[in-house]
Amino acid sequence: MTKFTLNGKTVTYKGDANKTLLWFVREDEGLTGSKFGCGVAMCGACTMHLNGNPVRACSTPMSAVNGATVTTIEGISSKVANAVQSAWETLDVVQCGYCQSGQIMSAVALLKNNPSPSDADIDSAMNGNLCRCATYHRIRAAIHNAASQLAKEA
Ligand code: FES
Ligand code: FES
Repeated sequence: MTKFTLNGKTVTYKGDANKTLLWFVREDEGLTGSKFGCGVAMCGACTMHLNGNPVRACSTPMSAVNGATVTTIEGISSKVANAVQSAWETLDVVQCGYCQSGQIMSAVALLKNNPSPSDADIDSAMNGNLCRCATYHRIRAAIHNAASQLAKEA
């Protein structure tokens, strides 16, 4: 049995231990904000936080989350997350939107670890999150915007 915390709620899972976290969250929990893109940890559309770190949920088996804390786009709520979401709106980052929950999850994790990232830090942290609409320039600007907001509030 797998027991863990999902967005602040204790959940249990007794099925196939190889089922991935992404499909458990989408199918069993009905949380569809995290997307399926490549299915092989190459695009970042499925990014969630596992114990605060960004992971590719499409390649994370349920056996790996026992006892862990998992947060999805539906569950992020913190000063950093609010600043990121506000910056995304201010800079109108989203185009089709498919990749964006994964982008935001990676951006929040970056700013939690590095409140003042350089362009190179951003490019490195966001490297695994692909965007077919090529919103990379706005994503980078939004991360700088969120960092500035957070610095003003500190
Ligand atoms: S769907 Fe998980 S990395 Fe692409
Ligand atoms: S906004 Fe369309 S794939 Fe990123």
